[in-house]
Amino acid sequence: MIKIGYFQFYPNLKQIKQNSDKIVNTLKHIDADLIVLPELPFTGYYLQNRGKAQELAEDPKNSPTVDTLINLCKKRNFYIVTGFAEKSHSLIYNSALLIGADGVLHTYRKLHLFDDEKQWFDPGDAPPQVVEILGVKIGIMICFDWIFPEVMRSLAIMGADIICHPSNLILDYCQSAMLTRCLENGVFAITTNRFGVENKSGGEIQFTGNSQIVAPKGMLLHRAPSQLDELYITEIDVEDARDKYITPSNHLLEDRRPEFYSGLLTPEILSDQ
Ligand code: ACM
Repeated sequence: MIKIGYFQFYPNLKQIKQNSDKIVNTLKHIDADLIVLPELPFTGYYLQNRGKAQELAEDPKNSPTVDTLINLCKKRNFYIVTGFAEKSHSLIYNSALLIGADGVLHTYRKLHLFDDEKQWFDPGDAPPQVVEILGVKIGIMICFDWIFPEVMRSLAIMGADIICHPSNLILDYCQSAMLTRCLENGVFAITTNRFGVENKSGGEIQFTGNSQIVAPKGMLLHRAPSQLDELYITEIDVEDARDKYITPSNHLLEDRRPEFYSGLLTPEILSDQ
């Protein structure tokens, strides 16, 4: 059994220290093994332009924010998956870090940037990977990655038990779609969303909250309210993610017929030809 959870809140744009203090104050007394935070919980979401993103992004190896989280993991003996505006030389990624008492164990860089994010972030440059902690295999994807089923499928094929999914969701399709993603891949998913509003050029963005934890048969274990803070922790049995039989004679992964899916690896769209 493993205790997993999320912290949904309303990050204040560009207030890195204030957001970090809020997270630390919320998590400093909890009993859990793995906590997932939203996408970009320190900087906020709508960074406006490349210059602002450069100012706010940090190199995780030289970041007071990350050092604070490592200390928290040491004190509380848990792991955190958090969104993070990552600076790497001249590049800036919308990333997620897996952090434990020994430091940053893994960095995932968002592959599918959403809308205006393309103006200030560089797209992820590496395939998603699975990392083991406490005997459990963790896969990470970020927000809009959910709409590309290949991401969760490839993590499931690599053995992921739990998908950690830091998010700043704006469209309202994801929460229900994740029930299907978990069913078809036989995995748990922790989607941690933020709530509140930010300004964008010519309007506002409303974030949808409703963070949630879904079990492998597509069962919703818990969903947060839309526009409120919520810390939620529950205990799960990861063995539920290791039984991939949907009937006694149908295995979700072994019954695939990849020899007939060659179109998946074709970069151009073939339907017009
Ligand atoms: C999103 O990918 N933050 C919508």
